[in-house]
Amino acid sequence: MRSFSLSAGEVRIYPEAGALARAAADEFIRCACEAISARKRFAVALNGGTTPKGVYSALAADYQVDRNKVPWDGIHIFFGDERSVPPTDADSNFRLARETLLTKVPVRLGNIHRVRAELGARAAAADYERWLQSFFHPPQGKFPQFDLIMLGLGADGHTASLFPETEALKEQARWVCPNWVPSLKTHRITFTYPVLNNAVQVMFMVAGQSKAEILRRVLHARPADPVCPAQFVRPTSGKMLWLVDEAAASLLG
Ligand code: 6PG
Repeated sequence: MRSFSLSAGEVRIYPEAGALARAAADEFIRCACEAISARKRFAVALNGGTTPKGVYSALAADYQVDRNKVPWDGIHIFFGDERSVPPTDADSNFRLARETLLTKVPVRLGNIHRVRAELGARAAAADYERWLQSFFHPPQGKFPQFDLIMLGLGADGHTASLFPETEALKEQARWVCPNWVPSLKTHRITFTYPVLNNAVQVMFMVAGQSKAEILRRVLHARPADPVCPAQFVRPTSGKMLWLVDEAAASLLG
């Protein structure tokens, strides 16, 4: 693994996607142990897509080897975004996490906080925000603070369900909002930038040659002129970590 730091955070480059997934799982465990030791709980927001699948499988495999490696009792699972589909749908981020991780580890059922996307994007976003408010209880006007938010990077520069030229990019008050994504012709539900940027730690996981150009643009563009949604993720006081593989890093120089 080789690493370097930029204004966008620390970048760690792994030989291939499997090593990236292992490293992301280890970072998940490190953050969980730290949060539980300091705050008695670990609130983590999972992301969707395909990259996290390897991370979830690694965490599930860890449990088979060592049941005490991950303090599952203190872990609360949230979702940084969701598709407007039922939890049983093949596109559901919850279903991905459920099948590859949540049914394979002893996370408490009451600690799995899924987006009720079956309500429809608008109602589901409002419902999830109410749920987050009841869980975090931040002071009036403050945002919830997740211990870890896991994010991916789309080839168009989206992250969570903050897609280029969509309304949710402008949201600075709400914590969760519905988002019509013209390029996908679908509604999504997504955390907003204030929530992402209030995290103790944000961890991007980016793998594959198809992400090389966008990763180069995101990491090398000047903060003053962001080129895509992922570039507006800048934790106010938290840590930003980029776990990437050599294929995605091939244009970083
Ligand atoms: C989603 C994700 C999305 C994802 C990116 C990258 O719901 O699809 O939250 O933001 O992280 O599209 O996906 P891959 O890592 O699979 O390329």
